[in-house]
Amino acid sequence: MSFWSLFGEQLWAARTPILILAYILTRALSRLSPQIERYHMRAALTLLLGHLVALAISTGQIVSGYEGHIAGITSFAFELLAIISIGVTALFRAVLPRVGLRLPRILVDLLTGVGVLVVFIAVGRRAGFSVAGLITTSAVVTAVIGFSLQDTLGNIMGGLSLQLDKSIAVGDWVSLGPGEPAGRVTEVRWRYTAIEMRTWDTVIVPNGVLVKSKVTIIGRSTGQPAWTRRQVDFFIDFRTSPTDVIEAMEKVLRNDPPANVARDPAPHVLLLSTKDSVAQYAVRYWLTDVVPDDPTDSAVRIRCWFALRRAGISLAIPAASVFLTQETPERAERKTNREIDQRLRALKKVDLFSGLTAKLQRALADQLEFMPFAVGEAVTREGEKDDGLFMIVEGHALVRIGKDHETPKEVARLGPGQFFGEMSLMTGEARTASVIAATELLCYRMNKSAFQQILEETPMIADQVAEVLAKRKTALSAAQNERDESRRKREVESEKQDLLGRIRGFFGLDASQ
Ligand code: CMP
Repeated sequence: MSFWSLFGEQLWAARTPILILAYILTRALSRLSPQIERYHMRAALTLLLGHLVALAISTGQIVSGYEGHIAGITSFAFELLAIISIGVTALFRAVLPRVGLRLPRILVDLLTGVGVLVVFIAVGRRAGFSVAGLITTSAVVTAVIGFSLQDTLGNIMGGLSLQLDKSIAVGDWVSLGPGEPAGRVTEVRWRYTAIEMRTWDTVIVPNGVLVKSKVTIIGRSTGQPAWTRRQVDFFIDFRTSPTDVIEAMEKVLRNDPPANVARDPAPHVLLLSTKDSVAQYAVRYWLTDVVPDDPTDSAVRIRCWFALRRAGISLAIPAASVFLTQETPERAERKTNREIDQRLRALKKVDLFSGLTAKLQRALADQLEFMPFAVGEAVTREGEKDDGLFMIVEGHALVRIGKDHETPKEVARLGPGQFFGEMSLMTGEARTASVIAATELLCYRMNKSAFQQILEETPMIADQVAEVLAKRKTALSAAQNERDESRRKREVESEKQDLLGRIRGFFGLDASQ
């Protein structure tokens, strides 16, 4: 028989044409999937060529009457390896990922390894020796190798578990410790995980280390977008009102957030601490793209810097001052005079007291107490006993009733020049309403004895206060009645619904009837 006809026969016997066809198809498929590395197909081609060459040598040997089997077995081994190489690439790298089933790379490698082992066993059997027996009888060698490969095996198992439980995936942004720079996972290999840093460096972390240490996955939170909260600190003179600082920064960041700053949840500002004449503020915002973290921090700092400048607030100058002031009677007097002047100015703004004689105003100013309140603070609480009268110098306050209700009712809004607290002062009864600071609120408080002095000297004031008091009392009872009426309506409605339910239940009607 001629070489070529025997070669053809051998090819068909080994089903090589089918293998070549499978290779061509897989190659075409792999061209459609750019993520398949080219070397897989190159390896398959090399094995296929090895198989063909070995088969040709074996055919040549048969034709020339040579008895040896090595070339035939080699061709068989190459053929099986080519089948595995083409099969794994076609199934696990080309077809399954297309239907949404992407096995971890390590698992694919592991399956390939098992396939190669099976090939060795099959080839060994054809060659007349038992590879399986060889593996089991060399237990001591296996133990020695296993012991020396302890770390490597730890890394491999680590890599396997990382891939299987999907705790860290390629593309995740991770940080390997608090304050450590973040990097993007680019590969989870058998032995290590590669993390590309922003510095264009790559950190190689052995998988064994990775599974044992704490890793922060940036922007991963159940049910939330892949955003992360950032904090930018500001240091401002502690004498500046925190309300002004917070308002200036929150306003600019909420109305006009820089790129990659989320609108919802909105950025917010906190007063973190006050120490050594410096108040530390934290601007917190959610970063919608974890990549440009420092540039976005910088944009936030710039926005806030300008907003603070516009509000006339300057950043703290690191300074340590030692105040060595001798408290002399003159200095104390100067201070008192300055304070009294301020109080007189405040009194003049309140209609009720602006008409008092200068002497009385001065006597009254002596007894006023300065009382600043932050937004949301209660100046008076409904139902509490207290007899102070408050004059508003700056800011606004809300008058509310119904402290025991879910939604208290707003009765009035008071501003600069107005006063409150006169009802308890005049009648001695508990506070009729709660007065809450709607903005930062600056007030002066006058106690009962000071007010008594004014009444004695200017009795007509009682008239004016009584008029305001009467008007407010009427408005208050109207608001109370309105609230009682709506509550009564709600109670009747709920009673009605309750009875309706019982009637329906009694007659077996469903709710739609
Ligand atoms: P007093 O009851 O001492 O404490 C709560 C204060 O809220 C009350 O005095 C009034 O000064 C003020 N207040 C109550 N009702 C009204 C109203 N309708 N309009 C404005 N202020 C009010």
